[in-house]
Formats: sequence, C-alpha cells, structure tokens
Amino acid sequence: MIVVTAATGKLGQAVATALLDKVDPATVRLTARDPSKLADWAAKGFATARADYDDPASLVEAFAGADTLLLISSMGTNEQRIAQHKAAIDAATVAGVGKVVYTSAVNPSTASAFTWAATHEATEADLKASGLPHVILRDAMYLANMEGIFARALETGTLAFPGASGKVAYTTHGDVAAAAVAALTDPKVVNQTFEITGPEALDAAGLAAALSAATGKPIAWAEAPYEAFEALFRDMGLPEFVVEALLSIYKAYEAGEYEGVSDAVPTLTGRPATPVVETLKATFG
Ligand SMILES: NC(=O)c1ccc[n+]([C@@H]2O[C@H](COP(=O)([O-])OP(=O)(O)OC[C@H]3O[C@@H](n4cnc5c(N)ncnc54)[C@H](OP(=O)(O)O)[C@@H]3O)[C@@H](O)[C@H]2O)c1
Repeated sequence: MIVVTAATGKLGQAVATALLDKVDPATVRLTARDPSKLADWAAKGFATARADYDDPASLVEAFAGADTLLLISSMGTNEQRIAQHKAAIDAATVAGVGKVVYTSAVNPSTASAFTWAATHEATEADLKASGLPHVILRDAMYLANMEGIFARALETGTLAFPGASGKVAYTTHGDVAAAAVAALTDPKVVNQTFEITGPEALDAAGLAAALSAATGKPIAWAEAPYEAFEALFRDMGLPEFVVEALLSIYKAYEAGEYEGVSDAVPTLTGRPATPVVETLKATFG
C-alpha cells in the first residue's frame, strides 16, 4: 500500500494523477484532514482516509499497512511544521512504514535566507534519526509560486519582483510528483537525497523572455523594491510569519541559493525536467 498525506493540496493532487498512470489506485490510500474533499479520487478507485498532522492517532491509523509513505510538508510556522512532521515520522515508526518519502526544499538550512528552510533542516534530521528507510526530495521553488507575478506582467508588460537578478531553477508540481512516484514505487531508491529542480536556472530577464515566447507578447523585466511587495502582502492580510517568509524567498533568490540545476528528475523519472516556457505555454499561452 502507498499512502500519501496532504492529498488535497496542489502537489498531492499531482501525485494522485501521476499514480493513476502507474499503479492500481486500489493500492493507494490518499489522506487529508477532511477526506470528504477526496471524493472524486475515491470514485476513481483510490482508498481515502483522514490524516491530520495535529492528530497523531489519525496518522498511525492512516499509515497502517503502508509499504511506502509520501509525507508532503505542511503549512504553518517552523515550530508548528517541525512538530507536525515529527508526529508523522513517529506515527510512521509505530505503523511500521517500509519507506518514507519526504518533500523537503533546496538548501534546507537555518543559514538560508528563506525563513521556512529551518523546518526542512529539522525534519530531515528527525527522519534520519528515526532509522526509517527514507528518500528526501529537496524541491526547488515551484514555478506556480510566481503565477500572480506572471499574470501581472501580462497586464502591465513588465515582470517585476524583488531579487530579480537571482537565477532560480524553478520546478513544477508535475515534475515533483513524477519524482515522488518514482521514489515511492522503486525499491532501489532508498536512503538517498535528491534536488528536484527544473532543467535551467532563470533570472527575471530569462523568465520575461520565456513568458514572451509562451504568449507572443513583449515582456520587459524590472527589479521591484522589497517594500512594495511587503506592502502588497500586508494588504492581502497575510499573517506576519507568512509575510516574512515570502519576502525571504526573494532574498534567497538574490543570494543565488536556488540556482543549482540537478539531473534528479531525469534520473528518477526517465524523462527530461519540464522547461519553464512549456509550463508558461500551458498556463498562459
Ligand atoms: N518548493 C516550493 O516552492 C513550495 C511552495 C509552496 C509550498 N511548498 C511546500 O510544499 C507543500 C505542498 O505544496 P502544495 O503546493 O501542494 O501546497 P498547498 O496546495 O497549499 O497544499 C497544502 C496541503 O497541506 C495540507 N495540510 C495543511 N495542514 C495540514 C494538517 N494539519 N494535516 C494534514 N494536512 C495538512 C493541506 O490540507 P487541507 O486541504 O486540509 O488544507 C493541503 O493539502 C506545502 O504544504 C509546503 O510545505 C513548497
């Protein structure tokens, strides 16, 4: 049995889609805080169950019989997420899970400019300390994070964000899902760490050129002041820790933390990682 947590999220849905192509859905248990949100997947033949990171008993029950478990990282403060992931690792130990695949992030270090990287440093350490067979997928920044910025660029003709000169090897939910499915289904992949990146690292100039190529519209680029984005995030009513985390992503861009390109997607999936322009064509073209 393959068990997937946070199956209602964008990544969880991409993983379910990828699993449907590869295995019998009756051998997969998709889990969520509210499993009624998974009714469409249950209709396709998947088993579903409740698993809330804040409810350890629900985790032990949901992970029972799992040969492999995809632990998709949660949302919240570092303190909340570290405790939630630890609860999931402890539950996996109690349930006797055969292998845990965890979605970490590139540069999972408290030394990173990205404030949420601290969670991944702690969870990776907890996973290794558990002694459970595991695979760590250090995901690059998702291109989807930039969708609002691309939409604004198409309105104004200028792609603008802070840290614009930093190159980033953006990945996609589809590529992360394909890599996760490979890690879940291939017994040879174990006790390894992979950086899941796109095939190229692009700064704002490269992204603007890709958006232009995808849509046929001329797109310029510009550096946006951090203060402008801070005001924007506050106007959106985001909690303080989220404002801080989002701004820190651009600081990490600027520092070149995400410019590394790896061959993990082709290695794990047997097909190339998706170029940015292809995703932009599918979304905006
Ligand atoms: N690398 C990147 O650029 C990047 C960007 C964004 C996020 N992330 C990380 O990657 C994860 C997956 O990304 P995504 O795009 O799929 O995010 P998403 O669409 O926001 O999904 C987040 C998921 O976490 C679930 N969740 C939250 N709290 C939970 C809890 N207490 N117990 C069980 N499930 C809980 C949500 O379930 P509900 O439906 O119940 O709310 C949802 O399924 C995120 O959670 C985050 O840790 C990485």
